[in-house]
Amino acid sequence: MKPIKAESYSIFFENEGYNTLKSHLNSCNYSKIFIHLDFNTNKDCLSVLIDKIKIKEYETIISKDGEDHKNIESCMFLWNKLSSLGADRKSLIINLGGGVVGDMGGFIASTFKRGIDYINIPTTLLSMVDASIGGKTGVDLGVLKNQIGTFHDPKMVIIDPIYLNTLNKLEIFSGYAEIFKHSLISNLDLFNKLVFEKNNNIIYNLKIINKSIEIKNKIVLIDKKENKERKALNFGHTLGHAIESFFLNTNKRLLHGEAIGIGIVLASYISNKYFNFSQFDLDRIKKHILKIYKKINFSNSEIMEIIKLLKHDKKNSHGKINFILLKEIGNPVYDIEVENKTIIDSFRYYEK
Ligand SMILES: NC(=O)c1ccc[n+]([C@@H]2O[C@H](COP(=O)([O-])OP(=O)(O)OC[C@H]3O[C@@H](n4cnc5c(N)ncnc54)[C@H](O)[C@@H]3O)[C@@H](O)[C@H]2O)c1
Repeated sequence: MKPIKAESYSIFFENEGYNTLKSHLNSCNYSKIFIHLDFNTNKDCLSVLIDKIKIKEYETIISKDGEDHKNIESCMFLWNKLSSLGADRKSLIINLGGGVVGDMGGFIASTFKRGIDYINIPTTLLSMVDASIGGKTGVDLGVLKNQIGTFHDPKMVIIDPIYLNTLNKLEIFSGYAEIFKHSLISNLDLFNKLVFEKNNNIIYNLKIINKSIEIKNKIVLIDKKENKERKALNFGHTLGHAIESFFLNTNKRLLHGEAIGIGIVLASYISNKYFNFSQFDLDRIKKHILKIYKKINFSNSEIMEIIKLLKHDKKNSHGKINFILLKEIGNPVYDIEVENKTIIDSFRYYEK
């Protein structure tokens, strides 16, 4: 599969990626190589990578796994670790993990000694199609996601679905929501392919992963700093993130993808009301999401709490809550203010 060219780096697939990485390591003469992992990828993925690239001289730096540890305390640990292990400006960090490892590893690379090289080797479906692409790095601030961060491109990204063999099925389902979102904001053919799947399966073969990366990369190339087009990647996320945050505070935890799936249905409903987005497609979207993720019921007071949480979305500006909506599949509209009544109605449509 051909590499995908991003702004200052390329995204390689499978063996071509490892061969390019080996040449890169030979030619760049890094003073030290650090492989950044979390507990799970240290256990399940490190040996796969070492077998592929056969390096002997490297240090591992290991973060605790999960979103709860994507914070500045974990960065302090990692910066101290790099420093005590003798990292300098010519050192390299290879992030081998999901979006948490990638976002945090990219962030410490962008700030350590004012910026060192890093490479992303994503090991979850979500990080393959989304988090590892586009140069956004960062950590959470308390319960607020990704509030502290930088733009810092990796030197390369290597995609190898082999890592998905050890990934929990629920995490695969979670990452799928981003593939589905990519189809909605830009590619009717991919959308049709995904929704026509007869069984309760999701499809995530290498071709679909590649297509999904192409969609995200194309958008980032047009608008890296998210002034307009990149905002489309937030489709379904405004309400999706608020729903995710709401459930974090309860004993019922939702998968990221489940929350985004609901957010996609709600945003599609709002698109139908505001921009006459096709009812046929809206119904297909809801049917597809409910085939994959279980239905959640929301009480009136829960909906009001979720609406309150919208004001924390980092995509807001000037105190306004901005939605990304669709006129049709592949045709997003940006920065739309939506009244509460339509948001409440969208929950009722989802539950019906
Ligand atoms: N930078 C961006 O543009 C961007 C875009 C989307 C999401 N994100 C971020 O990505 C993060 C979510 O990423 P995620 O869904 O990959 O979650 P994650 O990194 O928390 O990984 C999920 C779980 O799977 C485990 N794991 C990872 N790979 C494994 C493997 N191959 N085998 C076994 N276990 C494995 C991890 O240890 C973790 O417990 C969020 O913090 C989100 O903000 C960033």
